[in-house]
Amino acid sequence: MTAAAGPRAGSPSTDDGVAWGALEDAARRVRDHAYAPYSGYHVGAAIVTRSGRVFAGCNVENASYGLAICAERSAIAQMVAAGESDPVAVVVVTRGPEPGSPCGMCRQTLAEFAIDLPVRLVSADAPSAARTTTLAALLPDAFRADKLK
Ligand code: THU
Repeated sequence: MTAAAGPRAGSPSTDDGVAWGALEDAARRVRDHAYAPYSGYHVGAAIVTRSGRVFAGCNVENASYGLAICAERSAIAQMVAAGESDPVAVVVVTRGPEPGSPCGMCRQTLAEFAIDLPVRLVSADAPSAARTTTLAALLPDAFRADKLK
């Protein structure tokens, strides 16, 4: 990742070492590729891993509606396919007056790899409504693999 994005309205502090602006740019770019002819709701997600690599994914819908793949799970699949498994932050870009929040399935999928991941939620229509939360806040008491032992 080379983009040196400047501060944005509502951006969190960069004290956490995450290049939030560049990560948001990646999520915005991949959102342009969303395949969402049924809902019209385009979503882009970008994950940065401990290595500094960025993995982006968009939602992919299907005429058989239930087969839709969410942007967050699409980004996780890109990360895993590249041999990585240590996300340190994620940005999700949607639309509307308030940013969308990841669905339950995506929360659980993210929790497989990082329980206290910072999650930044951005609406392309309302940059000032962006907010940063954590996966732990979004999915308290997640089901974890250690329960299988
Ligand atoms: N969607 C995502 O990409 N991520 C979420 O966390 C929630 C929903 C997508 C799925 C579908 O293509 C569209 O948004 C409307 O539900």
